[in-house]
Amino acid sequence: MWKDLDISVTRREPDQQKSKPGLENLGFGVHFTDHMFLMKWDRENGWHDAEICPYQNFSMDPAAMVYHYGQAIFEGLKAYKGDDGQIFMFRPEDNLERMNSSALRMCMPRLPVEKVLKALKALVYLDRDWIPTADGATLYIRPTMIGIEPVLGVRPSEQYCFYVIMSPVGAYYAEGFNPTKIWVTDKYVRSVKGGVGHAKTAGNYAASLMAAQEADKAGYTQVLWLDAHEHKYIEEVGTSNIFFKIDDDLITPPLGGSILGGITRDSVIQLAKSWGVNVKEQQLSITEVIAAIEDGSLKEAFGSGTAAVISPIGELCYKNKQYVVADGKTGELSQRLFEELQAIQNGSQDDPFNWIVRVG
Ligand code: COI
Repeated sequence: MWKDLDISVTRREPDQQKSKPGLENLGFGVHFTDHMFLMKWDRENGWHDAEICPYQNFSMDPAAMVYHYGQAIFEGLKAYKGDDGQIFMFRPEDNLERMNSSALRMCMPRLPVEKVLKALKALVYLDRDWIPTADGATLYIRPTMIGIEPVLGVRPSEQYCFYVIMSPVGAYYAEGFNPTKIWVTDKYVRSVKGGVGHAKTAGNYAASLMAAQEADKAGYTQVLWLDAHEHKYIEEVGTSNIFFKIDDDLITPPLGGSILGGITRDSVIQLAKSWGVNVKEQQLSITEVIAAIEDGSLKEAFGSGTAAVISPIGELCYKNKQYVVADGKTGELSQRLFEELQAIQNGSQDDPFNWIVRVG
């Protein structure tokens, strides 16, 4: 149990440490740091065997439940290095709380947030030399929980593994901060009310792949999902939440159970409100968005997410018709949000919301 659980640390020998990628070819999630965090759960012992160890392969029974019934949840958060070398994480407790809400939905055990935060800090500090310092580059942290009991009956696993790996990353999209092209699908749906859309569970991403492939084939960056019932209301983009600035309102769909409650989404809402922007969490149909593009009242649109940060949208394609958004350029509000969020995250600006957590 955690109260008497010490995290054991095994460092990779200096001569075994990996070489770090150049800043120009970081990509997203293709290089991994020297260490990882790992712990196990079972009914009798709760969370136990917590360790930081060299990044390594797992050995798992092929009958492990995650391979068959997909009990897998994950998170994405980032660590940043400021100009003075200070290290920060952005809202890590919120990620861990969201992971606990995903765990609840997927019948998985709850994480002890404070203890895991301690482990995250220790891991980030140990691999601090992996945090890139170039503009827009960060250390992406991927906490993951999987069911590992080797049983083929369909029920919740009674054994779990929680692990954290980290990857130095550049921009998620090939476009960087340049406007993306978004494909609106009315053929596929991401999630339904009562389903698992609000949980960050692996199957949601597997289910999104076919639509993403079709979008890619048509030359689009990401898919915009509509509601499953009427194929009418905007939900979210493949890897981010979505915002539209229509006249003076900043509108984003409400969290009704089928949408992921993004931490960047919440940060955008709080920041924009603090600037006096009229933020509305309200249902918005694709026809309203198209009408706003056509009558010029749609000023800008952008996605928000940990990986995507703020990603401006320059074009939508709906029913094979293309609609240019904001002249295909980055809007003023998108730009301001991007800059302000980054400045808070890397410690170069005040943090009025107490979002950043110092490491080390
Ligand atoms: C994140 O923004 O951290 C995500 O989880 C998106 C990811 C699937 C690339």
